[in-house]
Amino acid sequence: MLEDASRLEKKWLEAVAAASGLDALEAVRVEALGKKGEISGLMKGLGALTPDERKSAGAKLNQLKDAVAAAIEVRKVQLAEAEIDARLQREKLDMTLPVGTGPQGRLHPISQTIDEIIAIFGEMGFKFAEGPDIEEDFYNFTALNIPPDHPARQMHDTFYLGASGDGRPTNPVALGEEEGKAEKKYGKAATPTDLEGRKLLRTHTSPVQIRYMKSHKPPMRIIAPGRTYRCDSDMTHTPMFHQVEGLVIDEKTHMGHLKGCLTEFCRAFFGVSDLPLRFRPSFFPFTEPSAEVDIGCSRKGGELKLGNYGDWLEILGCGMVHPKVLELGGVDPGRYQGFAFGMGIERIAMLKYGIPDLRTFFEADARWLAHYGFQPLDVPSLVGAPR
Ligand code: PHE
Repeated sequence: MLEDASRLEKKWLEAVAAASGLDALEAVRVEALGKKGEISGLMKGLGALTPDERKSAGAKLNQLKDAVAAAIEVRKVQLAEAEIDARLQREKLDMTLPVGTGPQGRLHPISQTIDEIIAIFGEMGFKFAEGPDIEEDFYNFTALNIPPDHPARQMHDTFYLGASGDGRPTNPVALGEEEGKAEKKYGKAATPTDLEGRKLLRTHTSPVQIRYMKSHKPPMRIIAPGRTYRCDSDMTHTPMFHQVEGLVIDEKTHMGHLKGCLTEFCRAFFGVSDLPLRFRPSFFPFTEPSAEVDIGCSRKGGELKLGNYGDWLEILGCGMVHPKVLELGGVDPGRYQGFAFGMGIERIAMLKYGIPDLRTFFEADARWLAHYGFQPLDVPSLVGAPR
């Protein structure tokens, strides 16, 4: 029995060492230590011995069992590690393989144009700013020197939000109803005074001027692109469109800076280095003096070309910020002055990329986007644009 034990220990330790995988090792364990295994069999035989013999043989067998079990545990860890190593070798990733070409998304021309505007003005030191689409009457009109009964409010067909929160339209005329009919259906049309204090969808990005002035100290130089809304829908107007606002305020900022800045922008944006600009006197309640800016073009043969060709195309409104607006924005008009401008983003995108119909911007047609859309990361800058 005792000789048996030491012979068996040698035999099973060799078998454990020789097991070349986890499955083989498990088979060895079952053969040696399993219920019907050889060592278990010997344990069962202990009952037939005398008490003295049983004591010494039992101790010897237990030692054998422990030695084999311990060897199995050690081997198990070795084999598991070897298996992981082998898998790592086998499953090596080839980082040089080309990636598969799945369907690729495109940037909408509006997003691309906004990126370009930010890149160009960014290089002139402008910061990005934004304001809410749902705006207060104060920021959209009053603080921009457009009082409640001012005729300039009629320049904007405004979407007003309900005052009572009951979902009842409050501005039936602006909703396109005939005046008499609308009154029967909804009650009396809202008057300008009713509308004061009511929330609205901002009709331009100019309220960002006020918000920024109120929350920052001059000098300031910002660009604020975003969505704007007017109750208007035809070939050349959509109820939602985009504008970009610019605002520069410092102690000595003057009209020459305004002209230089916009000239530089238009030339970089349209990629025409000698693009002429014409500043035409105009009126906005929040700027004085005000101007509309035209860029040079040609319409010969029904084809629009940008450049020094003698014809003109209007693209934006601008002017020196009205002292009253500075004051309402919390900026001392005795010390500071500056300029502001506002530009339609669809309009300049259509001009630059030859997109003929405004309404197609918002039809969400994937074929249109595949044609007019842009590759991600393709953001030209002032440096990158042809000069
Ligand atoms: N907010 C004006 C518009 O929507 C544009 C503008 C902005 C004009 C800033 C002057 C200065 O038409």
